[in-house]
Amino acid sequence: MHIVKTISEVRSHVAQARGEGKRIGFVPTMGYLHRGHLSLVEESKKYSEYQVMSIFVNRIQFNDPKDFSSYPIDLERDFDLARGAGVDLVFVPDEGEMYTDNLTHVDVDVLTENLCGASRPGHFRGVFTVVSKLFNIVQPDVSVFGQKDIQQAVSVEKMTEDLNFPVRIVIAPTVREKDGLAMSSRNARLSPDERKRAVALSRALRRAEEMLVSGERSAGSIVAAMTDIINESKPGKIDYISIARYSDLALADAVTEKSVIALAVFYGATRLIDNMIITFEGERAQCAY
Ligand code: PAF
Repeated sequence: MHIVKTISEVRSHVAQARGEGKRIGFVPTMGYLHRGHLSLVEESKKYSEYQVMSIFVNRIQFNDPKDFSSYPIDLERDFDLARGAGVDLVFVPDEGEMYTDNLTHVDVDVLTENLCGASRPGHFRGVFTVVSKLFNIVQPDVSVFGQKDIQQAVSVEKMTEDLNFPVRIVIAPTVREKDGLAMSSRNARLSPDERKRAVALSRALRRAEEMLVSGERSAGSIVAAMTDIINESKPGKIDYISIARYSDLALADAVTEKSVIALAVFYGATRLIDNMIITFEGERAQCAY
């Protein structure tokens, strides 16, 4: 596995792999890798023969400077995990390599108005800007994003189409801890007590699934039941619990084909997110989370 810090090194390794007839898979990350990231690499291998991963804590997507400064970093451990997962090239740029007097930013309208977009001003602009830059640097054939960040994944798909990046976007399922908590680098910041209480996010989604399977469609009733479960876990704050149409992430009064139920909850200073996607087979709700 090669570990490089500069754009020109990425380009020369990728050109060599492409010259050998390999398709390029790309998993962008902010490091502090966990099984969720490694599953994205596994997914990427289904479509490509050369795996590139970036590790870059992208300051411009943090709307809260404290969140940026406390973001966990352990590069040596990341390199070991990436090597074990079969990554061929890790790109670990410093901030100067990525941003020098950057005056250009990328935004996706509509899809970013609700959910996390409503409470994290500037966050998605930072994400799309860095993802666009990384796509131009790596020039992958395929790039894999996790369902856990559903608004990011759906918007990156649209951005890729709108800006004609020749990249296939794949959205991979959320990987969970045994008790159901969605894997996230931020979980490392939870105290043992917060960690126990945080399982309420996935429990709330399971409750929503039970209600949907038994025929409930009202967003109000489902959100109320989920809110009760989250409140029992004594969160610091509920940021949102929302139901939206998948196509444009507009908030909806009822769950219809195809919808997303998403939530963001604080435990202490740590903001956790989770979601599920609902499709229907006839009247039967199918929940993917
Ligand atoms: O999902 C993430 O870790 C980040 O938002 C990403 C896509 C690596 C961009 O910094």
